[in-house]
Amino acid sequence: MARRTIVAGNWKLNKTTDETRQLVRELRNKLAGLDSAALVVVCPPMTSLETAVDAASETGIAVGAQNVHWESSGAFTGEVSREMLEAIGVEYVLIGHSERRTLFGETDGDVNLKLLSVLRGALTPIVCLGEVLEQREAGETEAVVRGQVRAALADVAPDHVPRLVVAYEPVWAIGTGKTATSEMANDVHRLIRGTIADMFGGAAADGVSILYGGSVKPENADSLMAESDIDGVLVGGASLEAESFAAIVRAAP
Ligand code: PGA
Repeated sequence: MARRTIVAGNWKLNKTTDETRQLVRELRNKLAGLDSAALVVVCPPMTSLETAVDAASETGIAVGAQNVHWESSGAFTGEVSREMLEAIGVEYVLIGHSERRTLFGETDGDVNLKLLSVLRGALTPIVCLGEVLEQREAGETEAVVRGQVRAALADVAPDHVPRLVVAYEPVWAIGTGKTATSEMANDVHRLIRGTIADMFGGAAADGVSILYGGSVKPENADSLMAESDIDGVLVGGASLEAESFAAIVRAAP
């Protein structure tokens, strides 16, 4: 199965509804007429999702949430469910972003519960993982990443694997201006694909899009996406301006 090229913007805790409408409009104008196979996704904060869906309608730009809870409803103050996201036209959701893990205590077990819940519905999950600096320096990247993949994807039904998107984001490269070199990132992408192949078979693993994230900019996007196993990018800071995000979309093969 052909892998999808995806360029996703993670807006994090940025943009009011007015700013969201404005940014989506600017993006639409900058991307109009672009002949690209890349799927473009923006992930604004929860309060801006509906505005983004509205502003992006008929533009080819899809909208993703930054988080989701695994329960459908109930006494879970502050959470939203996949059903709620689906009902307003959201199509993607980030799961297990490193900021959720490190700042909000999300565990591999939580990531797995969220993924299994999302796969019961219609959203496309983007499962984020990656090592922290101490782990890389201690030579633990391979073990950490393998463990994160195995834990996140535990009990996924084989027929759901084609819907998976994984984002490798070395935590030391997020928001720091430090990017993994393209080769360094591609090595980890191959390791992730190999781990998925061990779990679900090589053909299934071949169909999974694996994105790179961590200080992606217009200047490094094309060399990253030129690598054999880098199927797109997850962009934080550079997704907050239409010009830089559009330049990254244009860099997609
Ligand atoms: P950054 O963030 O591009 O600002 O490094 C990436 C991310 O956290 O998804």
